[in-house]
Amino acid sequence: MSKEIKIFSPATVANVACGFDVLGFCLDTIGDEMVIRKTEEKGIKITKIEGYDLPFDAEQNVAGVSALAMYNDLQPDCGFEIEIYKKIKPGSGIGSSSASAAGSVFGMNALLGYPLNKTELTNFAMKGEALASKCEHADNLAPAIFGGFTLVKSACPLQILELPTPTDLFATLIHPQIEIKTSESRAILPKEIPLSNAIAQWANVGSLVHALHTSDYDLIKDSLIDVVIEPYRKQLIPHFDDVKSAALKAGALGCAISGSGPSIFMLSKSEVIAKEVEKAIRKVYATTDIKFETYVSKINVEGIRVI
Ligand code: HSE
Repeated sequence: MSKEIKIFSPATVANVACGFDVLGFCLDTIGDEMVIRKTEEKGIKITKIEGYDLPFDAEQNVAGVSALAMYNDLQPDCGFEIEIYKKIKPGSGIGSSSASAAGSVFGMNALLGYPLNKTELTNFAMKGEALASKCEHADNLAPAIFGGFTLVKSACPLQILELPTPTDLFATLIHPQIEIKTSESRAILPKEIPLSNAIAQWANVGSLVHALHTSDYDLIKDSLIDVVIEPYRKQLIPHFDDVKSAALKAGALGCAISGSGPSIFMLSKSEVIAKEVEKAIRKVYATTDIKFETYVSKINVEGIRVI
């Protein structure tokens, strides 16, 4: 059995407009790389971090915390070293902490001969995610580990549903280079919502799930609406309304905040339209003094992969 594995751990989009804390999908062109190595010396060590300044202490690092949770539970007869080549900026809203938390447990599981299934891996990865966002949610982790679109039916006990990915669907993203901490963007949310908003939101979640199952792009368009979270969080994202109207005008099916922001995602019915959308939203941010990155990605139906 191999002693070392190199993986691509993808960025993800959580919430997908109407599905706060339950829906997510996996990106393909953006992600971290990690090397996980089996060692004779017991324990978990983070030996290399490139890209961003993150803690080497395993108990302070999301990849380390999820790795320790799995390690303490399985008690294998070896240890592990983790190298993190971080490409996803922390606080970007595209699942930076999830990519690290999921990557370490995915790599260890592979090196141990796959003793755990994907739901069990997600459970351990949630321990790492909790370090970053102060709450155990799996809507970024599930798509990173399972690929495609996922729905977290229940966090405790953890139950994840895999949803189909319509083949022509492409994502466009803009990442304004400002940091929004998930814990802070959760703190501004209301504790209660009007019943009329709850009805609209769960109708949209149901219809989006149906639209994914039937590859009904018009229904995807009608369902990518968030009346609960977006009105609060969009205030944290400069020019959100301008980006959204430019994206919809350029042909996007929908546009909403990616996870807790500041990234904004759009879904489109072809790569050509997704690239047109990218051009349109770049024009909006080009008139500001905020630095930004944009991406176009197919939906990654595989999730984390060995490279
Ligand atoms: N569902 C979480 C939130 C995702 O929106 O707070 C955080 O990336």
